[in-house]
Amino acid sequence: MQKSLKIKNICCIGAGYVGGPTMSVIAKNCPEIKITVVDINKQRIDSWNDNNLDNLPIYEPGLKKIIKECRGKNLHFSCDVDSAIGQADMIFLSVNTPTKSRGIGAGQASDLKWIEASARKVAEAAKGTTIVVEKSTLPVKTAETIKIILDSSQKDNKFKNSEKKDFHVLSNPEFLAEGSAINDLQYPDRVLIGGDNQKAIEALESIYLFWVEKDKIIKTNLWSSELSKLTANAFLAQRISSINSISALCEETGADVQEVAKAIGMDKRIGSSFLKSGPGFGGSCFKKDILNLIYLSNYYGLKEVGNYWEKVLELNEWQQSRISQIITKKLFGNLFDKKISILGFSFKADTNDVRESPAIKICKDLLEEGAVLSIFDPKVESSQIFESLSNGDENKNIIISKTIQESTLNADAIVILTEWQVFYELRWPEISKKMRKPSWVFDTRGIISVKELKKLGINVWRVGFSSKI
Ligand code: UDX
Ligand code: ADP
Repeated sequence: MQKSLKIKNICCIGAGYVGGPTMSVIAKNCPEIKITVVDINKQRIDSWNDNNLDNLPIYEPGLKKIIKECRGKNLHFSCDVDSAIGQADMIFLSVNTPTKSRGIGAGQASDLKWIEASARKVAEAAKGTTIVVEKSTLPVKTAETIKIILDSSQKDNKFKNSEKKDFHVLSNPEFLAEGSAINDLQYPDRVLIGGDNQKAIEALESIYLFWVEKDKIIKTNLWSSELSKLTANAFLAQRISSINSISALCEETGADVQEVAKAIGMDKRIGSSFLKSGPGFGGSCFKKDILNLIYLSNYYGLKEVGNYWEKVLELNEWQQSRISQIITKKLFGNLFDKKISILGFSFKADTNDVRESPAIKICKDLLEEGAVLSIFDPKVESSQIFESLSNGDENKNIIISKTIQESTLNADAIVILTEWQVFYELRWPEISKKMRKPSWVFDTRGIISVKELKKLGINVWRVGFSSKI
């Protein structure tokens, strides 16, 4: 009988938004397991090791506390990839898998070059029996590719005289959402483990059992696990496109999308989550995963399936263009040299991540019309904003404001793009006095009181709401 695999050393390849928080929560719950998070990006590793916890490379509520508690004890961040792999019984792959920008499948398929590079590194540096866990969101069947790479290392001449290596590949998709990552990891709705080796599955399960109830741990075959992750994200994104399509109809008919969302959400079969209308979904997963589904469907000749999911993406892009057009139209069709205060740049609140942020497309459209943007975000670095809007080049029409007051002073319009808590608490009587008249507020997140602003003489547009009625 195969003996059970005891995990004492974990290595995580990739110290990003997934790897960093996931390993922190495992370290907190499993003090006896040594965890080393490695990355080829030295600057990132240095930031994870920075004594000043305000300099951690990612912002996540609750993360600083865990890093303070575990770093240097059972949680380590390092650039020494080979050594961490060599010591590990279990290796998590948490590297980036963006959409391919060139070659076959460009614009749809995931770029697996980082996954392949890490699998090759594991094949080279691992010792003895190693469980390899896919954590990054990956296209279905990636586990097969990883397996082939790992198994072929045995046939490689280089390894002829070395110790025998043995690999088991598992899929363990991450369902954390940024901004609530620590909470999602600590109290997951479910943990999904896909694989075909019982002992390897049990070894991974034994880690989660330190803090997750057994009946929340689901075991499936590899492909179901990989496809479930894509499907979960596609369904969530679909809900956002559905409610955003209704927001446009609300604005025309006088219905209020927040009232509609509440009314339909109380039906248990529909549920109330993910029904907030806004500027469309962003983040590193939704678009990429739907593109993956489309690619997969088309690959298997299921054109109708691909077309169906394509519409979810189209609607999302349309919502963003629709919002920029509304802003332009309301400001007399002319934005030239007008100061527009942009409140929020991250793709959602409580994260400094700007990947696929709706702010990027909306700001680019406004810049195209000649507007001067004065951008304030409580957590996003200026360099990330410049990088996303002008490839890092200087653009005199982009001003980064350090305070809300600076951003809104003399502005013709304010556009709320992220639902940061501070924007719920804006002092409108003060702000309105210092804006240029006629002043406008465009609330793409539905967080302001239209009544209050109107009383102050501000013109208001709120997503999914018609102020005419
Ligand atoms: C998502 C999934 O939720 C998570 O399970 C998966 O692991 C990774 O992808 P994330 O992208 O971090 O997580 O954030 P999420 O909270 O899902 O929000 C995604 C986008 O949808 C954001 O731009 C957000 O503003 C938008 N959104 C979300 C809405 O517009 N309305 C909603 O009701 C919910
Ligand atoms: P995610 O949101 O999926 O965590 P990120 O881009 O935030 O994505 O993080 C992925 C990390 O993986 C990056 O810091 C990147 O430098 C790292 N990475 C990519 N390829 C490798 C590799 N071969 N070895 C080690 N780290 C890698």
